[in-house]
Amino acid sequence: MATNSRRPIVAGNWKMNLDHVEAIHLVQQLALGLRSIDHSRTDIQIYPPFTDLRSVEGIIGADNLPIELGAQHCSALESGAYTGEVSVSMLARLSVTSVLVGHSERRQLYGMTDEIVAATSTSVLAGGLHPTICVGETEEEREAGITSEVLTRQVRGALAGVPKGSEGSVVFAYEPVWAIGTGVAATTQDAQGACAHIRSVLTEERGGAASGIRILYGGSAKPDNAGELVAEKDVDGLLVGGASLDAASFAAIIEAVSACYGSPSA
Ligand code: PGA
Repeated sequence: MATNSRRPIVAGNWKMNLDHVEAIHLVQQLALGLRSIDHSRTDIQIYPPFTDLRSVEGIIGADNLPIELGAQHCSALESGAYTGEVSVSMLARLSVTSVLVGHSERRQLYGMTDEIVAATSTSVLAGGLHPTICVGETEEEREAGITSEVLTRQVRGALAGVPKGSEGSVVFAYEPVWAIGTGVAATTQDAQGACAHIRSVLTEERGGAASGIRILYGGSAKPDNAGELVAEKDVDGLLVGGASLDAASFAAIIEAVSACYGSPSA
């Protein structure tokens, strides 16, 4: 059973999967799945590719679904000659409420530095949206025993872009790179240890506001490990990749997380 009062989040990061027709189908399947489970204690978010956002916005609005819409990335800049980029205001017009910032795939494959993560977080917040800032060590860093140092650097780097007083609008996600897409999730102890470390850095930097910041775990989260991961004190939800592409498994994860947060009457 979860032991904190932060409301959990289950977020589905679709990555570069599903065109807008397939996206509509998945959201319809998910809506059906949500009808038969108790998800009242959990915030549900999905992060489709940019080309799906308009269609998914339509279906969430038309059916009044309990799903928040997110985007996987955005530019730190407002507009201009930046071929291929998408701005925060463009996302806001599509009812997007959250943006993943600094996912390890953006950091590793597209050169997203801590400075760009900070600048993007600033822009997301200035546009009235919520950044979900991703941090996590690579396998080499873990083997070298420098996980804490890496997390400290990434969290401090990102906080440079979070104005004091806006901590409540920010979510962090601990995503060990070696666990992403590998089928090998972190152990509950490792996930809790890393999330507690992230919270301690947040506390050093921002004092009491840190206790309200939600920290997710991501990396091979599945229905059968979801409950035990979020039962940990500092793990406030899950960022799910592969398993969010299947409506039944994503719904099962949501159900497991909600169950872990007790019954409404308890
Ligand atoms: P995974 O991805 O669940 O497929 O490991 C998680 C993520 O990258 O957000």
